[in-house]
Parts: sequence; C-alpha cells; structure tokens
Amino acid sequence: MSDAFGTIIFEKEGSVAHLALNRPDRLNAYSVAMRDDFAEALHAVAEDEEIGALLITGKGRAFCAGADLSEFGSAPSQAIARNARWQRDVWGQLIGLDKPIVVAVHGYCIGSGVEILLLGDLRIAASDTVFAMPEVQLGMIPAAGGSQTLPANVGPAIALDLLYTGRRFGAAEALAYGMVSRVVEPESLASMAGDIANQLSELPRRFTSGLKRAWSEGFEMPLDAGLALETRMAAGAIG
Ligand code: COA
Repeated sequence: MSDAFGTIIFEKEGSVAHLALNRPDRLNAYSVAMRDDFAEALHAVAEDEEIGALLITGKGRAFCAGADLSEFGSAPSQAIARNARWQRDVWGQLIGLDKPIVVAVHGYCIGSGVEILLLGDLRIAASDTVFAMPEVQLGMIPAAGGSQTLPANVGPAIALDLLYTGRRFGAAEALAYGMVSRVVEPESLASMAGDIANQLSELPRRFTSGLKRAWSEGFEMPLDAGLALETRMAAGAIG
C-alpha cells in the first residue's frame, strides 16, 4: 500500500511503515510542507495497529540537506520562520512513537537530517554520507532537538565542536561518535535497513514497545528509577 503526500512517500510493506522524504530536487530540504506531511504520516503510523516498525529514508542523492533555507527569506525574521516551522511537534511524535524507528541516511545528512537521525532507535549510514550541523554558522541554533540529542549521543566535547564549527564529517566519524551503529556501502543501504525494519516489525509488540519505553524514558532518569522502570516493563512484557 502506498500513499503519496506532497513531500513524503508513505508505503506500508507488511507490518513496516516506510516514510521516504521526497523532495529530491531540493536534496529533501525540510520545508513547512514536509513538516505537515511528516506529522500526518506519523499520526497514521502511530494509529495503525498493524504497523510494528517505522523505516525513514530519503529519495534521491541525499537523505536531507537541512531546513529549507529558501523559506527563511519569506518570513519577517528567522526566529518567526523557525517558530512556524516547529509548531507541529513532529519531534515529539517521533520520541513518543511506541514502535522501533530505523533511520537510513546517505548522501547529505545536515541539520534537521541529523536531528531526525538522532531520534531513530536504529541508525544506519551509507559510507558516502556527509554530515554537518551548520545552524550556528548560519545565524541560528538547532531547534529540533539537536542541542540536546547530539550531546546525549556523542558527549559534550564532540557535540560542541560539531555545533559551534558546523564542520562537515563523514560516516566513519559518525560511527566513531556513536551517531550511527552501522556504516554500509551505499548499494547495500536500502536492503539492510529494510531487512532490519522487517525483523523488528515481526517481534511481539510488547517487547519492542517495552524496550523502547525502558530505554527512552529510563535514559533521562537516575539509575535506580531507570532500573525500576525496566522491572515494570519486563514484568509487563512477560505478561
Ligand atoms: N534549502 C533549500 N534548498 C536547498 C537546500 C536547503 N537546505 N539544500 C540544497 N538545496 C537545493 C539547492 O539550492 C539546489 O537547488 P537548484 O538546483 O535550484 O540550484 C539543489 O537543492 C541541489 O543542491 P546543490 O547545492 O546544487 O547540490 P550540491 O551537491 O552542490 O551541494 C550541499 C549539496 C548539501 C553541500 C548544498 O546543497 C548545501 O550546502 N545545502 C545547504 C545545507 C544547509 O546549510 N542546510 C541548512 C541546515 S540548518
């Protein structure tokens, strides 16, 4: 089954929902229209009981080249443009989705692209991927979680280097930093990501959603509270 939003392709393949960012002529730059389509598609994914896992990819030669810079010129100020962009809480939808999320990136993964990646549970990069967080260099700060999720994933020393300088880095560095767990040849990316999403989608939901809650909510807690949450999740999963 396939649904075409203007800027996102939503395909249901068995029990996997596959969302592909689809503005290839703009390297999948994240626009207000894409935000709306993404929000709508994520709502459908959350509601559909048949869907056990979400796969997010990008069409064309990039995963996502960051926020659509052309839209910043059409608003009275960058701050207003930025606010308008994030009013719909796509990032909260991704964090709150009780199904595992596989994100597969290639080509360019910049700004919002990195922020989407870091909200995935299982993250794979093609070896050709170029990453960057250029917001501060462009006169903004990351506003889709990057100031929090990047340090949480890679530690403050690396995160602040990447955030302040906006420097580009490759897939091997992203792997070494812990932003992705696997780097594969570009031609293997789609099949590996699809296989993983498929496997996860077939696991009993109470295990995948229980693990997701235990790690994502527990991550923010002191260890004793996290362990108590794990105990509750484990008891619930066994039934
Ligand atoms: N917003 C809007 N349009 C974008 C875009 C963005 N973030 N990134 C790329 N595009 C558009 C380009 O304007 C170009 O459009 P055109 O064909 O009408 O000229 C098209 O996508 C292809 O990009 P191009 O720059 O020609 O490709 P490239 O391979 O030479 O360079 C990048 C790729 C990613 C290095 C370059 O596009 C870039 O630096 N993009 C901006 C990245 C950025 O700063 N994002 C904001 C993060 S907050």
